[in-house]
Amino acid sequence: MLKKIIWSNDYCIGLSEIDSQHSKIIDQINYLIDNHNCKAKASLNQEIILFLDKYADEHFSTEEEYLRKINYPDLDNHIKLHQSFKLKTVESAVKVMKGQEDVTEDSITFLKFWWTDHILKADMEFKNFISKS
Ligand SMILES: [Fe+2]
Repeated sequence: MLKKIIWSNDYCIGLSEIDSQHSKIIDQINYLIDNHNCKAKASLNQEIILFLDKYADEHFSTEEEYLRKINYPDLDNHIKLHQSFKLKTVESAVKVMKGQEDVTEDSITFLKFWWTDHILKADMEFKNFISKS
């Protein structure tokens, strides 16, 4: 059984807009986990996946725009991480959108680990940059 993500201060960057977007993403992943664990609700996950796919774009734009504004030196690499996430997820989102696929445990596990790892590692690097500058 998939376990939910427990939000803590460890995930906070200290920028309210970005933190609230991250927290919204984690909430949505937790809904995916809840629904997946309850068979009767699993079909709701298609809508959540499609929402998350769009919301990730919005979030990445906010974050990249901010990093550009502060002249973050590792911006190009950070953008590449976002792009490779999109490449991995867009195909499965399209299948879900066309009704060809239910949201699998593997997809949820991927989202859970990608987002927690990205926030705790890559996003924390720009948090450190901000606190030093
Ligand atoms: Fe990021």
